[in-house]
Amino acid sequence: MMNNFLCQTKRLQQIVEPLLLWYHQNKRDLPWRQQVSPYRVWVSEIMLQQTRVEAVKPYFERFMQELPDVRALADCPEDRLLKLWEGLGYYSRARNLQKAARVLVEQYDAKLPANFEQLRALPGIGDYTAGAIASIAFDLPVPAVDGNVLRVLTRVLCCSDDISLEATKQQFRSLLAQVEPSHGAGAFNQSLMELGATVCLPNSPPQCLVCPLQTLCLANQKGTQTDFPVKAPKKARRIEQRTLFIFSCDIDGKSYTLLHRRPSKGVLRGLWEFPSVEGCLNCDDAFSAACSLADELGIFALKIQPAPSSRHIFTHIEWQMSAWEITAHASDFAPLSRQLLDDYRLVEIACLSHDHPTSDVALPSAFAPWREMLLSTF
Ligand code: ADE
Ligand code: SF4
Repeated sequence: MMNNFLCQTKRLQQIVEPLLLWYHQNKRDLPWRQQVSPYRVWVSEIMLQQTRVEAVKPYFERFMQELPDVRALADCPEDRLLKLWEGLGYYSRARNLQKAARVLVEQYDAKLPANFEQLRALPGIGDYTAGAIASIAFDLPVPAVDGNVLRVLTRVLCCSDDISLEATKQQFRSLLAQVEPSHGAGAFNQSLMELGATVCLPNSPPQCLVCPLQTLCLANQKGTQTDFPVKAPKKARRIEQRTLFIFSCDIDGKSYTLLHRRPSKGVLRGLWEFPSVEGCLNCDDAFSAACSLADELGIFALKIQPAPSSRHIFTHIEWQMSAWEITAHASDFAPLSRQLLDDYRLVEIACLSHDHPTSDVALPSAFAPWREMLLSTF
């Protein structure tokens, strides 16, 4: 075991120089690599945790425009923050980002600390993110092991340990800690991520012929690249069927739809959704369910038409959603755009747009097909 650790450390020592050279010549020009600051590195790393680089770019730019520093983030109303996050998913990342910003304001003069342990203690910051910020923003020689890094390293070392185990990640952190350069750890860590994202690919064959590690990589020598990484299979997802009501309602020349705020527990907590009922309802049952909901809210359902169905996959659940478009009429007395009964609200359709400058209504991507439908017809 110890011997193995030494062998692996030796092999990893050899990858540092070629990777750094390759990185300087091949790194992508990404928004958070321009004007590097601890705040920008932090926000980008949180966004990148579960989301692809291409998807993150526009969110990052918009976020930085509106919330350029720790204090702005700490002071942002939560609903507006969630709107800025709308479509990125894993919304607890945004809430934790703000919690951490408030800790930074109170305890660290609104600055990120240049210390791994202190970073690691902030809400939403785990071993990976603390290592990424410490190395990229502060040039501290600590590892940052994410999925890309694990894929590259298990291939280079032909290591069959299950990468979904915390013990495996810890082993790779210990190995990398031995070889982190004392200057340029941020570049080295990013070179591993970058190689994993652009050369040592996850879902298509790795591009070993253009890889700076081709002569050092054990899997390439043996032709076993695609045997790695080894990962325990995930549990099957629970399937839930729902029927959604996509109301459209014209009032004084403006178009509105009816939204419901999700409960404060469970999936997509606190975010907005189209009103829905359990199961897959036929036209008649859907219309009577829509009528009784509308009735309670002081609006009148006039007409029902089929709308596209869709499904959405979460980590542990799959939603299968059928939908009906309900044309409705609101009485003059309905308290428009305010909270209706319970957590229902009539919302101007224009406010559903991602880049609406002031909207605080975050409608997650699970509902994107009907958002687009409403935005294209209102
Ligand atoms: N994925 C997460 N962080 C990254 C970074 N800094 N560079 C490239 N890919 C990343
Ligand atoms: Fe990945 Fe191939 Fe490079 Fe090995 S040689 S690190 S398998 S791209």
